[in-house]
Amino acid sequence: MSRLKIALLASECYPFAKVGGLADVVGGLGRALHAAGHEVVVILPRYAAIDGARFQLEPFLSPLGVWMGNTQEWCAVQRATHNGPPTYFIEHEHYFGRPGLYHDPEFYDYQDNVRRFGFFSRAALQLCRDIGFAPDILHAHDWQTALSPAYLKIWHWDDEYLGGAASVLTIHNLAHQGRYSADEYGYLGLQWVNFTSDKFEEFGGINMLKGGIYYADLVTTVSPTYANETRTPIGADGFAPYLARRGADYIGIVNGVDYDQWNPALDRYLPHHFTPQRMAGKAQIKAALQERMQLEPDPNVPLIGVVSRFVDQKGLDLLAGSIEAIVSDMRVQFALLGAGEKGLEWYFGPLPGRYPGRIGSYIGYHEELAHWIVAGADFFLMPSYFEPCGLNQIYALKYGTLPIVRATGGLDDTVQQYDETTGSGTGFKFWQATQRAVYDVVGWAVSTYYDRPQHMHKLMASAMAQDFSWTSQAEVYVEAYQRALANKRSLG
Ligand code: ADP
Ligand code: GLC
Repeated sequence: MSRLKIALLASECYPFAKVGGLADVVGGLGRALHAAGHEVVVILPRYAAIDGARFQLEPFLSPLGVWMGNTQEWCAVQRATHNGPPTYFIEHEHYFGRPGLYHDPEFYDYQDNVRRFGFFSRAALQLCRDIGFAPDILHAHDWQTALSPAYLKIWHWDDEYLGGAASVLTIHNLAHQGRYSADEYGYLGLQWVNFTSDKFEEFGGINMLKGGIYYADLVTTVSPTYANETRTPIGADGFAPYLARRGADYIGIVNGVDYDQWNPALDRYLPHHFTPQRMAGKAQIKAALQERMQLEPDPNVPLIGVVSRFVDQKGLDLLAGSIEAIVSDMRVQFALLGAGEKGLEWYFGPLPGRYPGRIGSYIGYHEELAHWIVAGADFFLMPSYFEPCGLNQIYALKYGTLPIVRATGGLDDTVQQYDETTGSGTGFKFWQATQRAVYDVVGWAVSTYYDRPQHMHKLMASAMAQDFSWTSQAEVYVEAYQRALANKRSLG
């Protein structure tokens, strides 16, 4: 296998800046490619929220001039060589010197996100040139960096450093497309001749992801089922025609997970550890979790965990509509962790007060607690309306915490349905996006816990044996990179 030079451009990367699974994926993929011997650079915005001292960020380059339309923006570059590939940070005080990555503390999107991320996408390419890094592959993620494949084709096709690069765009979520007013198009510097309905124009405005899909040499998403769903009008948020146009150049690759971070035998956040052979630690963590979340200290009651961003996609309104009936009718406990939409926060936050000992909740982002819940619960619930991949259910499998998932996108690809006749499978799937279906599937899981303990053991053993490590998934990406290089198209 030849050694590739790969530039990973993203708006999140663990451990530096994380909102959701995108960060885990970019961090894990970067480390796995680096470990496999490829020459990887990761390029991120220098958000104020990144802890410069913790990651030992060093000034690297200043100034870096970036043309945006008729304006030249000036920025600086910092660098970290923290445990993995070198990571570069584009520092622009006006754009990134704010508390949030995408929105203010009240969850309102920053109004100038189009400029922030348009600028970042162009600056990342300029950075490669200025440091003499000539990538074979430019790998962009989501709408925030979707313009970089376009800049590559429009402005850098004959460039000494960038002219040889093929581009891959990975879609982590089609619900976020980067749609903005056409007034911003001039600033982006993409040429008005490209403001057409097959590239950037949509309903008179700009659609950044749509343009990226047009220009990238290969488009991927994060599971085969989500790739299929998004080829259909109903699952594609209006993008089915653009994805269909890419034909076989649109593929689904299931996310890997980083078993150094999510591993019951080594997890640095856990007070106890366990392996498939020695499971006593799991019971100890369950007890500690019950205490921490003020649940009744009972080892024999099934505990269901939820860790989620509170956004429409995750189907938590379905849980909100069924959880009270569930805890009234079944002997079961819930440990909930999440933040986001205020309506859900206001509902789930005070719920333990009404069901003391049976429901525990924490509203906020809490990395350690997320590990405790994934490890200590018996089941892990994800009732998503759609889920491009989903990582928590994959983490849960490794901890023998059985996923209860709606069979959509990556949830369908990574969980095998329990077969009550044989005890095979790794979790519980349901199809209908209704409160009733959530009630029923939870009832199925809970009755399995009480009535078929031998099946519970079998399911847990099968779950823990699943392997979604980045080592193998990174190889799948390398094949995709080779394909993008072979496919490289000339588009102006
Ligand atoms: P998404 O990216 O759509 O949120 P994923 O399942 O791919 O969904 O990834 C979610 C990631 O974010 C997981 O690593 C999960 O543990 C983490 N996460 C989500 N909400 C919280 C929270 N409130 N506290 C800590 N971690 C969270
Ligand atoms: C998005 C999706 C999630 C996926 C993650 C990482 O946030 O919502 O399903 O796991 O990206 O690819």
